[in-house]
Amino acid sequence: MKRAILPITLVLAPLAVACGSDSSDPAAGAAGAGGGAAGSGAGGASGGAAGAGGAPACKGIAVGQGKSCSEEMFCKYGEAAFLKVNDLIVAKATATGIEANIGDSFTKLTPEKAAIFKANLGAFLINAYGGDKTAYKYQGSDMKTAHAGLQITQAQYSAFVSMVIVPALTEAGVPSDDITNCFAPPITSDAFVKDIVTK
Ligand code: HEM
Repeated sequence: MKRAILPITLVLAPLAVACGSDSSDPAAGAAGAGGGAAGSGAGGASGGAAGAGGAPACKGIAVGQGKSCSEEMFCKYGEAAFLKVNDLIVAKATATGIEANIGDSFTKLTPEKAAIFKANLGAFLINAYGGDKTAYKYQGSDMKTAHAGLQITQAQYSAFVSMVIVPALTEAGVPSDDITNCFAPPITSDAFVKDIVTK
C-alpha cells in the first residue's frame, strides 16, 4: 500500500521533459500517464539527434561519449522510445500463454505490484542504458533482492530475452544491430544473469 501510485508518478513524470530531442514527439506527452499512449513516434524518436550538434542536451550520456554503445542508447533513442519499450515489455510479460515459456511470476503479481514493477523497470532500463541516474531515479530493489524466491530458470530467462525484450525493442523501431551490439550485453552478462536466475 505504502508505495502504491506515488512511485509511478515520481519515476515517470521526469521522462516527459528529459530529452530535448523528444519535445516534438507527441508520445512524450503521455509520460505522466505511465506511457500508456506512447504508441507512436518511437521510430521518429530513434532518429533523435540527441548529442548531435545543436540539439538540446539529453539527460544522460551523449552519443559518442559512452564507454560502449550500451551507455548511449538512452540518448540515441530518447525517452518516448524507452517508454514504449517499457510498455511493450510489461504487455508481453503478462500476455496470455507466455507463462509456458517464462513461468507465472508475472501473471501472479497483484495489480498494485505490477504497477510498481512497471514504474521501476522504466527507470532501471533508462539507468542501464545511460540515462542520468539522478534525473531518473531507480527506486526499486537490486536485481538479486527483486527476483529472490521467484525460482527463475535459465530457460525462462532466455525466453524472457527472446520473446519479450527483443520483440519489444524491435516493435519500438530499434534495428537488430543495436539490439545485438548495444542492448543485449548488459542483460546477458553472466554477472547480471546470475542475480536473477536462481533455479
Ligand atoms: C533483462 C532481464 C530483467 C530485468 C532488467 C529485470 C528487471 C526488473 C526490475 C527493475 C524489477 C523491479 C524491482 C522492484 O520493484 O524492486 C523486476 C521485478 C520483477 N521481475 Fe525482473 N528483470 C529481468 C528478468 C526477469 C525474468 C526473466 C523474470 C521472470 C521470468 C522476471 C520477473 C520479475 C517479477 C515477477 C518481478 C516483480 C517481483 C515483485 O514485485 O514481487 N524478471 N525485474
